[in-house]
Amino acid sequence: MAILKILQYPDERLHTVAAPVTQVTDKIRLLLKDMAETMYAAPGIGLAATQVDVHERIIVIDTSETRDQLLVLINPKIIASDGISDFEEGCLSVPGIYGKVQRAEFVTVSALNAKGESFILDADGLLAVCIQHEMDHLAGKVFVEYWSRLKQARTLARLKKKQRSTM
Ligand code: NI
Repeated sequence: MAILKILQYPDERLHTVAAPVTQVTDKIRLLLKDMAETMYAAPGIGLAATQVDVHERIIVIDTSETRDQLLVLINPKIIASDGISDFEEGCLSVPGIYGKVQRAEFVTVSALNAKGESFILDADGLLAVCIQHEMDHLAGKVFVEYWSRLKQARTLARLKKKQRSTM
């Protein structure tokens, strides 16, 4: 297993649209292990393949307090959604930046698991938000891009200042 490098916003590669996985192979399962290890080490509650510069529709999530409920979503699709929630979100690709995004409160998702079997999941609360956040990554969208241009410009300025001070 290996810890993968997480792309940092505003890296242009974060805007790549991921392609569907055609077959869940051993290579994909190895990537899933590395992605899970990277997410747990960060630590974070979700990671999309886009963030580790692999442009396939693959997500790992663990919103449990015990950090032992790994959820794998391959080729996820939201087949139903309802309600409105606005959680404060963060992202491993935008460290130190937090803010609200309006999303659906409940989602029903279809996806493949690590064995390539299809399943359907009903999610609410933090898990529902996390799924939508990670699926945005697969579409090339980062959560700060929901904000106003002014707030995005301020965010970029803050990130640049932080990057300078840690060099
Ligand atoms: Ni993120």
